[in-house]
Amino acid sequence: MRITVLVFILASTFVAFRRPPAPAQGAQAQPQEGPPAKEALQKEALQKVCGACHALERVTASRRSRAQWDETMDKMISLGAKGTEEEFAAIMAYLIRWYGRVNVNVATAGEIAEVVGLSEKEAEVIVKYRREKGKFDDFEALSKAPGVAVEKLKKSRDAISF
Ligand code: HEC
Repeated sequence: MRITVLVFILASTFVAFRRPPAPAQGAQAQPQEGPPAKEALQKEALQKVCGACHALERVTASRRSRAQWDETMDKMISLGAKGTEEEFAAIMAYLIRWYGRVNVNVATAGEIAEVVGLSEKEAEVIVKYRREKGKFDDFEALSKAPGVAVEKLKKSRDAISF
């Protein structure tokens, strides 16, 4: 009898250790769609620092260029906005990415990429074309430039100025 119990215990231990391995990383459920962690932190900083005095709608009511956001930040700081340097940097990055505006006729590829959501390489196509053929008159001219990521640009149309 005792031996039967012992064998049973040993057998179940064996089985327990032989459980199939957990599914590989790639097979597991993907994290839910949503803003990446960095962006969530940026938004948190925005809510904390800029939400202290007024509704965030006030902040997000209009798109601005980097220079305009810089000015707005300085103005808010002079009005009493409080935050760490990291928080202000995070807020700037967030505002430029989601509420930015960029002039494709003067901006560098990096500046275009950060506002319009293109890769640097895709933005480089715009800059190269501009250098060779001159400034773009309007969105239509921009979207006709060969190799330009038109679909992505359409999504950010209101962020682009000429
Ligand atoms: C200490 C209070 C305070 C904080 C904190 C604050 N603001 Fe303001 N904000 C104001 C006041 C007061 C006004 C209205 C002043 C005006 O319209 O000239 C305003 C207006 C604005 C406007 C619209 C007017 C304009 O100048 O463009 C924007 C955009 C804005 N704030 C952005 C921000 C951002 C971004 C932050 C966070 C970095 C922030 N605010 C944090 C007090 C604050």
